[in-house]
Amino acid sequence: MLLSDLETVLYTKEQIETRVREVGGAISRAYAGSHPLVIGVLKGAFVFLSDLVRHIDIPIEIDFMATSSYGASTKSSGAVRILKDLDLPVEGRDVLVVEDIVDTGTTLNYLRDLLLRRGAKSVKVAAAFDKPSRRVVPIAPDYCCFEVPNEFLVGYGLDYAEKYRHLPCVGVLKAEVYGGDH
Ligand code: IMP
Ligand code: MG
Repeated sequence: MLLSDLETVLYTKEQIETRVREVGGAISRAYAGSHPLVIGVLKGAFVFLSDLVRHIDIPIEIDFMATSSYGASTKSSGAVRILKDLDLPVEGRDVLVVEDIVDTGTTLNYLRDLLLRRGAKSVKVAAAFDKPSRRVVPIAPDYCCFEVPNEFLVGYGLDYAEKYRHLPCVGVLKAEVYGGDH
């Protein structure tokens, strides 16, 4: 039973659904009259992105990027590698980057600078989760579903060693499952 690997459930499927609908509504209102390019950061953002875009009722286009992660450890090297680049050009576009979680802020900071250098008209960020207590780079998501404590979380796209991404809720992984190195 996967759920028994969780210490606690932070947000249930229903709580996430309600909040994602609200955030989708806010994004639709903020971008009314625009035609933004929504960029999902793989792999973690795939669950949030697929829920979020179904609550955005203005025209959008969707593309994906994949960045290197630092595996099971959460220690950031500060370096971000692009594993899969965009298919669509960003020049002149309003861009909305969709992330699973903003932790140290390293990934987001790198992506925002990259997209602006490539000529995006604007770059904003929607994150399912925000862990502000871990921030190294001073950056914050423009839209966020939930602020979360400094715990190692899994579910709703978040993984430990590529597992648990498909859990419909988000929760704290039991320390004995990942060795407590957070
Ligand atoms: P950042 O560059 O430090 O902000 O890290 C972002 C990435 O670290 C996220 O996209 C996640 O893949 C990963 N990450 C950060 N915190 C967690 C967590 O609690 N559980 C699972 N992955 C996490
Ligand atoms: Mg990730």
